[in-house]
Amino acid sequence: MYYPEETVEEVRLRNDIVDVIGSYISLKRKGANYMGLCPFHNERTPSFSVNQNKQLYHCFGCGAGGNVFTFVMEYENFTFIEALKHLAERAGVTLPEEDLSQEQKRSRSEKARILEINKEAAKFYFYLLHTDQGKHGLKYLLDRGLSEETIKSFGLGYSDRGGKGLYNYLKKQGYDDQILKEAGLFSFKENDVYDRFWNRVMFPIMDVNNRVIGFGGRVMGDGEPKYLNSPETKIFDKSRNLYGLNYARTSRKSNIIICEGYMDVIALHQAGFNNAIASLGTAFTQQQANLLKRYTSEVLLCYDSDNAGTKAALRAIEELRETGLNTKVIDLSPYKDPDDFIKELGVDEFEKRIKNAQNAFLFEIETLEKEFDLQDPASKTKFFNEVAKKLLIFTESIERNSYTETVARKYHISFDDLRKLVNTYGSKYVAGQDKIRPTAESRDKKNKKLAEDGLVKAQKVLITWLIDRPKLFLSIQGILEPEDFSEELYVNVIKLLIDQYKNEKKLNPAKIINYFETREEQTEVASLFTSDIQGDMTTLEMQKAFKDMVLRIKNHSLEKQINQAAIENDPEKLQKLIKEVSALQNLHISFYDG
Ligand code: CTP
Ligand code: MN
Repeated sequence: MYYPEETVEEVRLRNDIVDVIGSYISLKRKGANYMGLCPFHNERTPSFSVNQNKQLYHCFGCGAGGNVFTFVMEYENFTFIEALKHLAERAGVTLPEEDLSQEQKRSRSEKARILEINKEAAKFYFYLLHTDQGKHGLKYLLDRGLSEETIKSFGLGYSDRGGKGLYNYLKKQGYDDQILKEAGLFSFKENDVYDRFWNRVMFPIMDVNNRVIGFGGRVMGDGEPKYLNSPETKIFDKSRNLYGLNYARTSRKSNIIICEGYMDVIALHQAGFNNAIASLGTAFTQQQANLLKRYTSEVLLCYDSDNAGTKAALRAIEELRETGLNTKVIDLSPYKDPDDFIKELGVDEFEKRIKNAQNAFLFEIETLEKEFDLQDPASKTKFFNEVAKKLLIFTESIERNSYTETVARKYHISFDDLRKLVNTYGSKYVAGQDKIRPTAESRDKKNKKLAEDGLVKAQKVLITWLIDRPKLFLSIQGILEPEDFSEELYVNVIKLLIDQYKNEKKLNPAKIINYFETREEQTEVASLFTSDIQGDMTTLEMQKAFKDMVLRIKNHSLEKQINQAAIENDPEKLQKLIKEVSALQNLHISFYDG
């Protein structure tokens, strides 16, 4: 831990978990908990719960969980230290100077320095755009209809012809070759170095926190490649970022417009559609869909109206559907992209196209239709069969029926006929005769690590019960030792809990989580504090369950020790252990409840 324990705990205490999580997602009170839709997986009914007493959250669907730090780490993609700083600032806690190890300093400063280099590069390109060297770059952008104000707000720039300007500039600032190599802005040849970008107008790519993480550079006029982009680096992962989201996230509009390119986003923002973002020519990914889901529930696809654009849209629709985002498609015809459209027809016409945006499913059906000849009865039948199959993606019958109805009406066939066809395919799938895409729900269940075996489950539930009824520590005294737990993590947690109980006379599970720094560990630890058995149990039932769990854990631990003793060939130890095992059968375990 780089920061004193008390400081970390103070930050945690000053950030009530319900307040913090409630500022990201909407929570409703339900008994002792607050419930909401889990931001970490797709769901329609809430299984995400926040417990104010314990200051923990837990999702029954995907197993996400932890304290307030874990949540911020998971949601914002922060490291522990970043989450700490963020929450300290939120609560007005001043953090002491950090005391980092050499290695920690090195790896953190590496990322930080790559970010710095990218930021310096953006400043450099922006500056060049406004010099004599860059004036044809500026002219290019102005000719494309961008205002000075737009150029400034997107930080557009120019990379010079010399081919070494940025390199020399950064060297002068004291950056060494090793870190410059990592930044992705240069090509290192045998004994020379060149700027990756030259004679291009430059588009800095920012993450949602406005940090420059890479660039796109466009040739002015014709030339190949039209756009050159930063390669993936330690700070730039294309599949997890969306161009313009740093602006769009605060647009206060009810939806987000996704288009393909830099210029589309910029033109849309300039026209007042400040909720536009771009997936930057690459296929839209599940991570991008999840990222979007943090900021909106409805997406308007505004991909190019050519074949490639339609294909990309169909793919994006699938990803967006999986994520549970409501999706519509904007028709740009007869123009290629939103940039062209606005230039030709203006803002009001685009506004109309937004209003008339088509339901994504119906867009899929219309695209499908183009592959068939509806004048030909055979082809037409095939088409309806394909439609029926597609309708099965709606797992809820009300939704499926309403789509079936719409499609039936549109193609003038009877609702009953189409529904029958849908049901035929449905029962085929159920019988396992055909493949069906796994639904979001079935995937969740898989994620839930159902494989978790009984022993692990027993330990988790036992620890949760200990937290909820600390007197049970007395019940296990002299019976269960921390070392009896099968996982190292559990052993550590139990030790920490016992210490805490001794020193503070009460338990504070959320604080225990502070001792673990990776999100995975935090989530795992949190799951130890939130693993209750479903349903209401009578005291008698609880007593029995408690005893079963204690015995199961002890038994397993003894068995392990017996194996060890056998390997070590230690007959005395062996005998003692075997006695202990048989004694277990008559063991009385008091249940100190309350
Ligand atoms: N793209 C890319 N590399 C290319 C071509 C395209 O990275 N060689 C990405 C860029 O992000 C680009 C987007 O795909 O903005 C869409 O490409 P395209 O439709 O060809 O370009 P436009 O956005 O229309 O660009 P412009 O209007 O400047 O021609
Ligand atoms: Mn274009």
